[in-house]
Amino acid sequence: MRIGMLTSGGDCQALNAAMRGVVKGLANNVKDLEIYGFYEGYKGLIYGNYRLLTSADFSGILTKGGTILGSSRQPFKYMRTPDENGLDKVEAMKDNYKKLKLDCLVILGGNGTQKTANLLRDEGCNVIHLPKTIDNDIYGTDITFGFYSAIDVACSAIDCIHTTAASHNRVFIVEVMGHKVGWLTLYAGVASGADIILLPEIPYEDDRIIEAIDARQKAGKGFTILAVAEGAISKEEAKMTKKELKKKRSAETFPSVSYRIADMITKRTGAEARVTVPGHTQRGGSPVPYDRALCTRLGAAAAQAILDKDYGKMIAMVNDKTKRVPLEKVAGKLKAVDPECQMIKEAKFIGISFGD
Ligand code: F6P
Repeated sequence: MRIGMLTSGGDCQALNAAMRGVVKGLANNVKDLEIYGFYEGYKGLIYGNYRLLTSADFSGILTKGGTILGSSRQPFKYMRTPDENGLDKVEAMKDNYKKLKLDCLVILGGNGTQKTANLLRDEGCNVIHLPKTIDNDIYGTDITFGFYSAIDVACSAIDCIHTTAASHNRVFIVEVMGHKVGWLTLYAGVASGADIILLPEIPYEDDRIIEAIDARQKAGKGFTILAVAEGAISKEEAKMTKKELKKKRSAETFPSVSYRIADMITKRTGAEARVTVPGHTQRGGSPVPYDRALCTRLGAAAAQAILDKDYGKMIAMVNDKTKRVPLEKVAGKLKAVDPECQMIKEAKFIGISFGD
């Protein structure tokens, strides 16, 4: 059996754990196994940059962050655009797939990666996709790997802010990753006791933020902590077209939304406001035990799907059971936070403000 493997898009903590799960599942059940690892995601598949790996390469990597194969972003929207030398990328990927006589290509990645995996399926390649992203925004699976590990990092950052915020009676904003969806901000914010949580799915109003800060001050709490998603958006901005929003943002001098909110808070309340951006630390370090177990299960289920020759699927986790989901049913769809979901209602019930 010949398997190709690649990790594409932004990395996360449990990519190695997932690859290990797949390889262990196959090696334990197939006598004659060859694994071709493509370097830097689809780039390796396009340009034929790969290496024959053995199961030994996947030993001792369960707890290792990053990816032993490296990763890169190869936007789906440019996949049909020839490269600078006129190379047809899709044909090049298919050629390398055929040249190596692969039985299946195991693709680990997020939404964009999944769209290209679906394209390759459409073009006749046998693919299996494993849902990776700290954003947890892949449609069709309850959970993506990397998410829980990133919550751990973001939550630790907010935990550390708590003591210093209390000492100085300041307003602190911690900017959490997530441009399109707010799962990570929601979970990290609730888990670390943030007072105000701003998500892309719930446009905020400045007045509501100020009200929440005032209410805390009146209650004798001198500090306020905001967990703000990278993609948080005001009600006014939510009404704009993409073009208008881009124009507005580029006219502002703030490096990100958190700085704009910090400036607004200081101007309106006189409070000292500070911004902390944990940034890519949220994708770094060792995967938390939950992610290691999740990836081992997804990996084993992927290996089983390959043994069953049941290709063209994402291996999802639904109601704590692995599930094979047809790629054509999920590719291109986003799983966003429902503003009316129970978790948001519960958070609001205990007094957390979402700025709406
Ligand atoms: O999709 C994962 C993610 O970490 C997002 O949360 C974040 O907005 C983005 O990637 C950052 O991308 P890059 O690593 O290309 O800066």
